[in-house]
Amino acid sequence: MSSKATGSITVTMEGSNKSAKLPLLGGTLGPQVADIRKLYGELGIFTYDPGYGATASCESTITYIDGDEGVLLYRGYPIEQLAEQSSFLEVAYLLLNGELPNKAQYAEFDKGVTRHTMLHEQLRRFFEGFRRDAHPMAVMCGVVGAMAAFYHDNLDINDPEQRRIAAFRLIAKVPTIAAWAYKYSVGQPLVYPRNDLSYAENFLYMLNGVPAEPWVNNPILSRAMDRILILHADHEQNASTSTVRLAGSTGANPFACIAAGIAALWGPAHGGANEAVLKMLAEIGSPENIPQFISEVKDKNSHTKLMGFGHRVYKNFDPRAKIMKETCHEVLAELGIKDEPLLDMAMEMERIALSDDYFISRKLYPNVDFYSGIILKAMGIPTSMFTVLFAVARTVGWVSQWKELIEDPSQRIGRPRQIYTGAPARDFVAMDKRG
Ligand code: SDX
Repeated sequence: MSSKATGSITVTMEGSNKSAKLPLLGGTLGPQVADIRKLYGELGIFTYDPGYGATASCESTITYIDGDEGVLLYRGYPIEQLAEQSSFLEVAYLLLNGELPNKAQYAEFDKGVTRHTMLHEQLRRFFEGFRRDAHPMAVMCGVVGAMAAFYHDNLDINDPEQRRIAAFRLIAKVPTIAAWAYKYSVGQPLVYPRNDLSYAENFLYMLNGVPAEPWVNNPILSRAMDRILILHADHEQNASTSTVRLAGSTGANPFACIAAGIAALWGPAHGGANEAVLKMLAEIGSPENIPQFISEVKDKNSHTKLMGFGHRVYKNFDPRAKIMKETCHEVLAELGIKDEPLLDMAMEMERIALSDDYFISRKLYPNVDFYSGIILKAMGIPTSMFTVLFAVARTVGWVSQWKELIEDPSQRIGRPRQIYTGAPARDFVAMDKRG
């Protein structure tokens, strides 16, 4: 399916008789777009949209978000149904291939991913080059990027079979790299993947297992992990996905492109928000300090944000936040945690914020990061690993979006323009002649 012409708009420059007729394009769902590719040629002007809040950078068939209605679809399937009825690996197949797999397709895909979970033994030594207290996202950037050193030579990204293997390698190895980054940081032996476990079980096993005793899977926790991975798998053209696409548009090695995505995700305004939410709640300390904190957030000079709140696209509840909140209650109940102060504080903060005009008028609601940290902390995952987990899940989305870009015959190297406001042309002045 590709976009279709749905009409046109005419842009006229006031004070001159110059105008340009721009086609309107429509997709399956969502707003039409004005195709401005001819604008510079016809009117000699660029468009200006810092942060790309109103700019469609590509055509995509993968994920659809309706921010006003709080809708999120992966290949047309509502996130609520996938989180409830599917598994992360089945969702990975869906995002990569466009359709849900039949039994045979799923079995082959599961086998393909399972067969690629181990790392080249020389990659182990990369971990020893880091300080033990390095942030695991720094390790992820380094080691995933280093995968290019192991697979670059025989990788022809224009060969579908080689793209398929690269996709398997990334989806399968990123959990191993993530778990090893954690194990290295705590000085425990690196735990090799097990082919008899599911994707989520294997990740929890490599994170928590030790050679000294058998590891026992808790099906409630591995189900919760699987659901958290589903919720984070893809999200349209967010900052890190756009980074992957821009790097991919140059023909760069997919391992280098995913490493670029990991770097972009690390920022606290993006994937780093889940870690920042826990730090924010810890700094607030207790529910009676919430009103003071909210006043600080509303004071522009404080530059304080309510982390886990707000979203560029969602101007309604982030559907993932709702599912995350439900999962939070399930996991705490399963773990026998009756009163989790952080959850009580988060819920009280949500109640206060959602009744305060500052947040209502700006349509600021909890996003996917607001509750995820509380679940992960209850599951024993250290705060420094929260964004790493987000990267593990989003690797499927990044790889799917990269694959779509490479397979798009109309794709070109990404190269935005600018408004230049610097110095006009001027001649060089020798040092002894300067003021
Ligand atoms: C993710 O894009 C994606 O899809 C991302 C993601 C994905 O799955 O890939 O969904 C994952 O990144 C979720 C977002 C996680 N980030 C946070 O929780 C950090 C806190 N949120 C904000 O930094 C902010 O809401 C952003 C970055 C998420 C969105 O910023 P925008 O779209 O640029 O919005 P804005 O800064 O223009 O805000 C509009 C107004 C401003 O106030 P005014 O200037 O109009 O007075 O809302 C205010 C902002 O100051 N505002 C907040 C706020 N977020 C926006 N005020 C307080 N706390 C906040 N969290």
